[in-house]
Amino acid sequence: MTLSRTVSAPLSRNKHLLNWVNKMAALTRPAAIHWVDGSEEENEFLLQQMVDSGTLTRLNQDLWPGCYYARSDKSDVARVEDRTYICSLSRDAAGPTNNWVNPYEMRRKLKSLFDGAMAGRTMYVLAYSMGPVGSPMSQIGVQLTDSPYAVVNMRLMARIGQRVFAEIDRDEKRVVPCMHTVGAPLAPGQKDAAWPCNQEKYIVHFPETREIWSYGSGYGGNALLGKKCFALRIASNIARDEGWMAEHMLILGVENPQGEKTYVAAAFPSACGKTNFAMLIPPAGYEGWKVWTVGDDIAWIKPDAEGRLRAINPEAGFFGVAPGTSAATNPNAMTALARNSIFTNVALTPEGGVWWEGMTDEPPAECTDWQGNHWTPAIAAATGAKAAHPNARFTAPASQCPTIDPAWEAPDGVPISAIIFGGRRATTMPLVYQAFNWSAGVYIGATMGSEMTAAAAGAIGKVRRDPMAMLPFCGYHMGDYFRHWIKMQRSLSETPRIFHVNWFRKDENGKFVWPGFSENMRVLEWIVGRAHGRASGRETPIGWVPGYDDLRWNGLDFPREKFEKLQEFDRSAWRNEVLGHEELFIELHDHLPKEMVYERELLICRL
Ligand code: OXD
Ligand code: MN
Repeated sequence: MTLSRTVSAPLSRNKHLLNWVNKMAALTRPAAIHWVDGSEEENEFLLQQMVDSGTLTRLNQDLWPGCYYARSDKSDVARVEDRTYICSLSRDAAGPTNNWVNPYEMRRKLKSLFDGAMAGRTMYVLAYSMGPVGSPMSQIGVQLTDSPYAVVNMRLMARIGQRVFAEIDRDEKRVVPCMHTVGAPLAPGQKDAAWPCNQEKYIVHFPETREIWSYGSGYGGNALLGKKCFALRIASNIARDEGWMAEHMLILGVENPQGEKTYVAAAFPSACGKTNFAMLIPPAGYEGWKVWTVGDDIAWIKPDAEGRLRAINPEAGFFGVAPGTSAATNPNAMTALARNSIFTNVALTPEGGVWWEGMTDEPPAECTDWQGNHWTPAIAAATGAKAAHPNARFTAPASQCPTIDPAWEAPDGVPISAIIFGGRRATTMPLVYQAFNWSAGVYIGATMGSEMTAAAAGAIGKVRRDPMAMLPFCGYHMGDYFRHWIKMQRSLSETPRIFHVNWFRKDENGKFVWPGFSENMRVLEWIVGRAHGRASGRETPIGWVPGYDDLRWNGLDFPREKFEKLQEFDRSAWRNEVLGHEELFIELHDHLPKEMVYERELLICRL
């Protein structure tokens, strides 16, 4: 390790920033401070350093050019919702769906945790922009971290380095301070772990002062603080105060053969195929149509001067779940991740490549699994061992996605004509329906649910309410969040249409009725048609629905009766559904906007 590289001169002249860095260095006592310039050369240096220390493996560069592989500690494989806190001044401001601790008490705790926490390590000063640098819709953060793994991942997920320090020095934008340590100080001469972390974890947000403190984890959303911590939990607070929206949504553009482009944003809970939907390839029968990707996880949405909603994707990369991603399910993602990507907790093949469940029909004859053990299909059959962890991830540059929208970095974002909510529901929910109006649409988003899968603890098949897919990400009281949604309409001259989709309805034999994937284009075309006032629909007690003849069927043999089954409205199932809405509403009742109560009453009347 060359000293000139690890102890670098400050890249900013901003006094507040310099003071803060000094103060935090005095608290955490790192061996060196490295101001991250974001250059290619610096990235190479950090990658090589991690190869040397055993954190990273360089993949076979003929097969996976520019790609690296990491295995995390077994205890550090996912976001830790039970260790995630919203420490607003009052408990009431955080609401019943967030963990809350008195901020004074939490600050004392963090101070003791961070005291000397970076000993023996380098502290990286990582300036990053969420959104294109210089865009009026972007926000800036500075993450102080002792994890070079976080730095090289953030380089893919956000815009970082010198150009962001230059923005900070213009002194025109707020900077969100983000403290991060893996919580594994090194004594002199102590050998480092390949994946340093601490068994104790704290992911803490102070919404009033717009601060993030993350302790003990080096993985994903716990460590790449621009993503869930900033772009959703802190940004949802900023957005409420400033009159815009920070949402857990993909953004895509649908282009028809006439060249007309329509953008939609869509919120789905995890394990519902959000990345696949964002990168959809139109099926047979859709010659001349194209779907463009703007983002796969987060949307910042703001009314423009004309009162139209416009959205940016604040991220610059994809942090996607690897298992299940394949040339069949998502060829665009496979192309995006084929170069310059980082893989974490997938399996390593003897050729120096990566593999995960679902990547190919045929598993490799042998590989090293995500825990470093020898793995073969026979071992898997006998023990159930997975080659890749179910939450194994790829970090890939968005620019490498073949369908990345030409306007994905437009400083003013793209206009949003429709908002889609969706969940995984075996019964009750039709393939698609349209809300009667904005407040009915907000009710649909607020009561959205998804059946729990094996990926999360809980009763499999039970519907978990996950309003707007924001349950783990809303940085304030969920009832106030619904009110903010309702209020947003007042600043709009044109209201996007709101829809609900369900790709996962099952028949009597437990089989999915709808083929999904590319075929979702048929639903998307109807949604776009409705948003433009072109496609027809029929009124039902829950909203507007398409008839069989309102969808395009060329290229797919899908009988009318099957479609009717998919769209079936079952009055008694819906009565139970409304009772299920109560579960969450009771918890939120003293902050629930009256529109939610009225919408519920109206729905009951129509049932
Ligand atoms: C994600 C998530 O990682 O929603 O995007 O959990
Ligand atoms: Mn997400």
